[in-house]
Amino acid sequence: MSYTGILRDIIFPMIYLDNNATTPVDPEVYDAVFSSLRRDIGNPSSSHLPGRRVREVIETCREGVAALIGCRSQELYFTSGGTESNNLAILGCVMPHKKAHIITSAIEHPSVLQVCRHLESLGHEVTYAPVDADGMVRPAELSKAIRKHTLLISVMHSNNETGVLQPVEEIGRIAKEHGILFHVDAAQSIGKMPLPPADGFADMITIVSHKFYGPKGMGALYVRNGTKISPVLYGAGHEKGLRPGTENVACIAGLGKACQIAIRDMKLRVYHTTQLRDALFSELRTALPDIALNGHKTQRLPNTLNIRIPGISSHELLEKLRDRVAASTGSACHAGKQTPSAVLKEMGLSDAEALSSVRLSVGKDNTLEEIKKAAAIISDTVQELRKAASPSAAPDQACALPSQQT
Ligand SMILES: Cc1ncc(COP(=O)(O)O)c(C=O)c1O
Repeated sequence: MSYTGILRDIIFPMIYLDNNATTPVDPEVYDAVFSSLRRDIGNPSSSHLPGRRVREVIETCREGVAALIGCRSQELYFTSGGTESNNLAILGCVMPHKKAHIITSAIEHPSVLQVCRHLESLGHEVTYAPVDADGMVRPAELSKAIRKHTLLISVMHSNNETGVLQPVEEIGRIAKEHGILFHVDAAQSIGKMPLPPADGFADMITIVSHKFYGPKGMGALYVRNGTKISPVLYGAGHEKGLRPGTENVACIAGLGKACQIAIRDMKLRVYHTTQLRDALFSELRTALPDIALNGHKTQRLPNTLNIRIPGISSHELLEKLRDRVAASTGSACHAGKQTPSAVLKEMGLSDAEALSSVRLSVGKDNTLEEIKKAAAIISDTVQELRKAASPSAAPDQACALPSQQT
């Protein structure tokens, strides 16, 4: 077992299958973070030696991120994570305009959807492109939504709940043909699978550190040279005036290291997580033959499995599993009631189907042994729930804790 695996077993004696919510920090990454906290004492904006040394650290890390996504380091801006990068990309392009039209998809993360809703409240127009039953945006449908004043298209690279990969290269071509800016929220894909080189398909790309073994509260935004974008925060001129505030140097060091590791281990990571994901589905299917996969069979992240399990409530299942297997559902808790995942509903699932769906997302540190154990625990718990056939498995089931989409 890996060092992280051993450590995790001591801290949390459970199987962690919620790597789309966040990933455990890689030991090489926390070494980089701690070293930076100890070593990097200067302010990177200072011209004295300690300041210049820290500036060098930041610029080296920027090059590391650039190497992972295939862009020039000057096109990267460090932020506090995916939510900020998405806000900066969308608001930064749209706010200087009086009235703009934006196209996004109906299955985006709230950090895109809520920004779009806010823009609508300010008088801008937004089209929410639908997805098909596989959870995929259809580029032809999206093209139909283009108007004369369409300024921006924002579509995620992979969906956080289903892992379904969106046809971003094709959408990028359409955007380019029409002179429309294209933003891609790649929060869930970066570090999990190779992406096409950034400058080949998008004008802006959201990068999130904690989804691939880096520190939380850290991210970046790729902005292609020449893209018209304004800051959303105002202050001193950090990050070439686009994102003011003294840089989070230790976490930048962590992100840089996470990128280096991702480049080094990418092939192995994709292979390992694909094997585990498929083994998990196959073990579960043997024990529970009526389960079904949500989302496209092949066009999805190597680590993500979203399944519906007839006759149970995913909320109840997760409650029973919670000290043994960590997983999640896309349903949210509002006013004490479970509401089905909007992503699964967009794909055409009924309330009951959506409320019986769980997301299992494996990571680089999971082992086949853990996967087999998790599959046995999950299927035994499902059988127990089915036997109990509790009426609380109904769609309007009560819940205790508020939840958020991750
Ligand atoms: C697709 C997607 N975009 C954006 C975010 C937000 O990232 P952060 O948690 O760094 O704000 C997430 C996080 O769950 C995500 O899954």
